[in-house]
Amino acid sequence: MPHADSIQAEAPPRHGGNVHQLARQLNCHPQQILDFSASLVPFGPPPSLRRALRQALNHHVVPYPDPSYQHLREAIAQIHGLDPDWILPGNGATELITWVARDCQFFHNLLPTPGFADYQRALNTWGAPSQFLPLQLHWCGGAQNWGDTLAQPMAAQNLHHGPSALWITNPHNPTGQLWHRDSLAALLHHYHLLVVDEAFLPLVPGGEVHSIIPLVPQFKNLVVIRSLTKLFSMAGLRLGYAVASPDRLERWRRCRDPWPINGLAVHGGMAVLKDHRWQQRVWQWLEQEGPWLTHQLSTHCKILQVCPGAANYRLLYSHQSLLPLQQWLAQQRILVRDCRSFVGLDDHWLRIAIRERTQNRRLLTALAAGFTQLECYSS
Ligand SMILES: Cc1ncc(COP(=O)(O)O)c(C=O)c1O
Repeated sequence: MPHADSIQAEAPPRHGGNVHQLARQLNCHPQQILDFSASLVPFGPPPSLRRALRQALNHHVVPYPDPSYQHLREAIAQIHGLDPDWILPGNGATELITWVARDCQFFHNLLPTPGFADYQRALNTWGAPSQFLPLQLHWCGGAQNWGDTLAQPMAAQNLHHGPSALWITNPHNPTGQLWHRDSLAALLHHYHLLVVDEAFLPLVPGGEVHSIIPLVPQFKNLVVIRSLTKLFSMAGLRLGYAVASPDRLERWRRCRDPWPINGLAVHGGMAVLKDHRWQQRVWQWLEQEGPWLTHQLSTHCKILQVCPGAANYRLLYSHQSLLPLQQWLAQQRILVRDCRSFVGLDDHWLRIAIRERTQNRRLLTALAAGFTQLECYSS
């Protein structure tokens, strides 16, 4: 077994889900790693996806996909009650984040922190200026977090006098804060562009009422990004979409590669979008497992403070460094999200995905063993 110090000696990961790196270090198969670092629905993908992919293997591997992605855009548009021209599917939300960043080249970009590092990556691609906007920490009942009201208002702050863009994640990653739709709507009057990444919103029980998509037809300065990765547990297929004004989306479409989404992702995506029972199942699971895991962690792991969150992950804090614990978990083949790549967070923070009960129990058992066996936590 490798020494704990050798595990994750490489630079802290910028994304969750890199089971391959840990598997190489532990000399095991990636499937032997229990991944709490990427926040995907743990019981996916839906059977409807498997069926669609089997069919797609026969019909959609040989031909080029339809470059207009008409059927896929229609399927997505129908969900949101919009015309298909307001929808642009992409190779994961990530591709679309890169395109919206292109529109922000001449804006001053405000990035609430700690936040998803990919916005900065996308802005750097186009040389777009940006500034971090620290989210206010509160002290609640002796613990620090970002406020335990779900949903809470996002305050309007414009620190810059020229044209500016604000990048919102709803619910926020990694804090799990759910922003109230009305407070986001108010921001549309303050910024030249409001980018709202709703990658995790479809997983939040009752969360859709805070989606800002219904306002897109009224505001040309609003772009909403969605991902199918998390809800349907299909990160490997790569599928997301943008909702924005048709002229903006047409501009992006003219610049990008002609077939960014492959035929399997198109047909798998259309199948899961019609699978209405799936979302109900996900909500039931999260309504049950989120509070349960939070309660267990708060009761049995006193060293950890659990930030309240609306999404399928929880941010954890400790007065002590959590790096030894993280390395201990890695030795047990449990991967959690190292938070050092989030601006403003350090090794006192970890993010864990909420998984199924047996897996959550395995994490709790490993945490308890780590706290007992690691001397640094014994005081
Ligand atoms: C907030 C947020 N947006 C977007 C993405 C990327 O989604 P996709 O897999 O669709 O590219 C992630 C991935 O972790 C994320 O956390």
